[in-house]
Amino acid sequence: MSEPKKLFIKTYGCQMNVYDSERMAEALGGQGYVETQSADDADMILLNTCHIREKAAEKVYSELGRFKGLKAEKPDLKIGVAGCVAQAEGEEIMRRQPLVDLVVGPQSYHRLPEMEAKTRQGAKALDTDFPEEDKFERLKSRPKAKRGPTAFLTVQEGCDKFCAFCVVPYTRGAEVSRPVDRILTEARDLVERGVREITLLGQNVNAYHGAGPMGDMTLAQLIWQLDKIDGLERIRFTTSHPNDMGDDLIEAHGTCDKLMPYLHLPVQSGSDRILKRMNRSHTAESYLRLIERIRAARPDILMSGDFIVGFPEESEADFQATLDLVEEVTYGYAYSFKYSTRPGTPAAERPQIDPAEADDRLRRLQALITRDQRSVQNSMVGREVKVLFEKPGRLPGQMGGKSEYLHAVHVDDANVEVGDLRRVRIVDSAANSLRGVLA
Ligand code: 5AD
Ligand code: SF4
Repeated sequence: MSEPKKLFIKTYGCQMNVYDSERMAEALGGQGYVETQSADDADMILLNTCHIREKAAEKVYSELGRFKGLKAEKPDLKIGVAGCVAQAEGEEIMRRQPLVDLVVGPQSYHRLPEMEAKTRQGAKALDTDFPEEDKFERLKSRPKAKRGPTAFLTVQEGCDKFCAFCVVPYTRGAEVSRPVDRILTEARDLVERGVREITLLGQNVNAYHGAGPMGDMTLAQLIWQLDKIDGLERIRFTTSHPNDMGDDLIEAHGTCDKLMPYLHLPVQSGSDRILKRMNRSHTAESYLRLIERIRAARPDILMSGDFIVGFPEESEADFQATLDLVEEVTYGYAYSFKYSTRPGTPAAERPQIDPAEADDRLRRLQALITRDQRSVQNSMVGREVKVLFEKPGRLPGQMGGKSEYLHAVHVDDANVEVGDLRRVRIVDSAANSLRGVLA
């Protein structure tokens, strides 16, 4: 038998890309590839790219440039670009970087095996179509390989919201939900392979409306179906839009024990003027009232969010409104980004604000967020949480995992194993993690 070929995938960006990379590795597994952790001994290199922020395309070109030596040594090496930069730049990538053999957009991963075969015949392969079929259904899974205790499962892709700064509606396309039965089959399979926690993924996951046996189901209805799977202990989902937070989903946070008390609900800005310019179709007030209702259903829920500072025309007063909103919510986690122009989006055409001012605002916002994150994390000391253990900690004898609230927790205990779900009393809070003892 011939040596297996080696595949090196470098993943950028969001959890959906992590999930997609796993599926691509499985699809190419059928072509005789095994994964390697180093580009040096690879027969195929895939960059799974992200286009959402920063100078994504430029980074990809400079990364590709670094493979020049490798390809000279090993002419059979195939190099591919996947993900949202592949979708956005398409043929331009092949024109600008002749090293590239394959360009595949996020909706075409199920075609990778044929595309790989084409490159082996010396041809270039490009596919950035938006097909109608469910790509995950066509991505063949390797038989029953054992998995760790946590997994991502994509239930919905794309977005119809068209926020003025965002490329997602262009790179991932229109909102599409996967049918309920396929998701349940995949979830059961994951659980059989050792998974105890599933995070449902979607760019706009709470807009989920997949086909069920009796018509479309909401995300909450899907969660209740997943709730019935024995052995599945925890359910999470990300990322949500405030306007799609249905009553049944809010209620599920209070009534579904498997649904974890953590919600990522990006607001982007606290200024109504800017929210309007961003085409967000909610106000700061409506967002705050929504959080009130969510907290009424599940008082201990940990809120997380995303912010953009320095959006075109953002004034100091607008920025102040963002700080006020952060003060009011008290986020357990929050991610803040300096606005960066994405060509083709409406905001890219507008007058940009002074970059030094934007840097300063980002620093001030991050200081406030860090303060709240710390205080929320510190407030866990003395409490009992449940931890799903995922991997050995940094020090010998340590085991680490996540609490319901997604805080990293470690214990020094030889009796804990990966996959255990145990009660832990928190005794200490460090910079980025909690320390506990088994309760
Ligand atoms: N500039 C800065 N941040 C952005 N995000 C999306 N597009 C941009 C952009 N052009 C942020 C938003 C979103 C998160 C995933 O990335 O906050 O919620
Ligand atoms: Fe982008 Fe999210 Fe807005 Fe959709 S809802 S356009 S993914 S920021």
